[in-house]
Amino acid sequence: MKFFVDSADLDAISALNDIGLVDGVTTNPSIIAKSGRDFKEVIAEICKITEGHVSAEVVATDADDMIKEGRHLRKIADNVCVKLPLTMDGLKACNILSKEGTPVNVTLCFSPNQALLAAKCGATYISPFIGRLDDITLDGLELIEDIRTIYDNYGFETEILAASIRNVNHVKECALVGADVMTAPPGVIESLSKHVLTDKGLEAFLKDWEKTGQSIL
Ligand code: E4P
Repeated sequence: MKFFVDSADLDAISALNDIGLVDGVTTNPSIIAKSGRDFKEVIAEICKITEGHVSAEVVATDADDMIKEGRHLRKIADNVCVKLPLTMDGLKACNILSKEGTPVNVTLCFSPNQALLAAKCGATYISPFIGRLDDITLDGLELIEDIRTIYDNYGFETEILAASIRNVNHVKECALVGADVMTAPPGVIESLSKHVLTDKGLEAFLKDWEKTGQSIL
């Protein structure tokens, strides 16, 4: 499973990248607004940290302008992945940009049929938002399972990028049902390493080691 960081926080992305946990990065207009940074500048800087795909989202709503924005964003770096919303215009732009060789992440997917359309239009990634479905008491994980089945039924190569991940259980569940990629905020990725018995065990080992009076180096 690939790990993408859902963030524009350069320090957090770098720190996770140094550990070896960053296969790519996703952003959206809300994340960029929160960063308070210039969009294109911040994308360029993220693209230098990781060689993986960095999703940069268009804000136009008609296909022609989405394509123009997408082509412009692609000039920032070779690893920019153009993020398009799951609308008919977004799908048209996906079809055209994908045929030009641009990686496309189709975002704001909330149904299996939407995912089917994105795959037919050549999307590199489909982003089902599981947390936002859970927020309205629907089953986000079931959506990932359904998309997995549909894509496997027809051999679609579009990767399932589980998005809107809010906690460590979401990550485990997505891995169990075979999401190709998950994108999560840095805090969630860091939390994956935590276990109370790991902390307790390490504390005991270090206490016992101290009693030996030895040193390794
Ligand atoms: C994914 O690409 C989105 O940026 C993100 O996962 C949205 O998450 P949210 O629902 O927590 O805002």
